[in-house]
Amino acid sequence: MKLNVALLAGDGIGPEVIDQAVKVCNVIATKFNHEINWRPALTGAAAIDAVGDPYPDETHEICITSDAVLFGAIGHPKYDNDPSAKVRPEQGLLRMRQKLGLFANVRPTFTFPSLIDKSPLKRERIEGTDLVFLRELTGGIYFGKRGREDNGDTAYDTCTYTRKEVQRLAKKGFEMAQKRSKRLCCVDKANVLETSRLWRETVQAMEKDYPDVEVSYEFVDAVAMRLVQWPSEYDVLITENLFGDILTDEASVISGSMGLMPSASIGESISLYEPIHGSYPQAAGKDIANPLATVLSAAMLFDGFNLSDEAEAIRKVVNESLSEGIVTEDLAEGGKAYKTSEVGDWLASHI
Ligand code: IPM
Ligand code: MG
Repeated sequence: MKLNVALLAGDGIGPEVIDQAVKVCNVIATKFNHEINWRPALTGAAAIDAVGDPYPDETHEICITSDAVLFGAIGHPKYDNDPSAKVRPEQGLLRMRQKLGLFANVRPTFTFPSLIDKSPLKRERIEGTDLVFLRELTGGIYFGKRGREDNGDTAYDTCTYTRKEVQRLAKKGFEMAQKRSKRLCCVDKANVLETSRLWRETVQAMEKDYPDVEVSYEFVDAVAMRLVQWPSEYDVLITENLFGDILTDEASVISGSMGLMPSASIGESISLYEPIHGSYPQAAGKDIANPLATVLSAAMLFDGFNLSDEAEAIRKVVNESLSEGIVTEDLAEGGKAYKTSEVGDWLASHI
């Protein structure tokens, strides 16, 4: 297969972790007879510095004409504590999601047998956890009307959803549940929010089209609690943008390190693959960040083209590296901490 992949390394540790994923993908391509044409483009603070725009038109053009996008991270501390900044790196990410129509963000959480005791949660709580969040990514409060009134003393952000937006996300959730344990949990705050009531009503109406799927409805606050109490009870969870943002960070802790969890953002015509962690500026340029979330995101990229042997080969070598202790400092716990690039080299040479 010939694949054109837009390569958006972004900020902070983005370029370092992306390099390792590229190494791994190139070995996979050779082994399985594919051709990957990497098409680098600017995003985030790096793009603001270079051209004054966190998601320049040229970058969009490269993305939209590629088969997939592999993305590192976005964000820079010089913008975080400056509420008055006119352009922010995150705007680039949001514009990219919107312009590429990436409406469904797939964020799995699973445990690695060799890391189970690294999780801050007790083994008996997390063993067997294998859940996936489907977070709506192009609607809700992230994209609603916002502003200031009252000479700046009052601020508002509005959350809006259409039935169609809920349906297309829920459809993905039902389909995913059908391929997994046939359980779907709709996470909302329908006891308070009108948008949540629309979510619930829409999902309820779709239940009859998927009689094999058992649907439960839970309030987001209760899920936040149960997720760390009994994560293995969940399978597929669907939720709106902000709830999904918060719950997926929480869920990532279960696996033992945020540096491990991959994600895919699915659109109608193109999909983007990225680690769920951020740009981790404190570690930028130090060759210490965990590249595995990005490498596992590349596995999801192969899955996206139904190349499951390729994806499995990546997951297998990642598991091997973990059980062999070829890990970066976040997982080393007193043992030898390998460099980001050393982990990448090890993976590439052990596929
Ligand atoms: C994420 C991030 C982004 C989000 C930020 C960087 C805008 O936290 O992908 O989860 O809130 O969606
Ligand atoms: Mg987030």
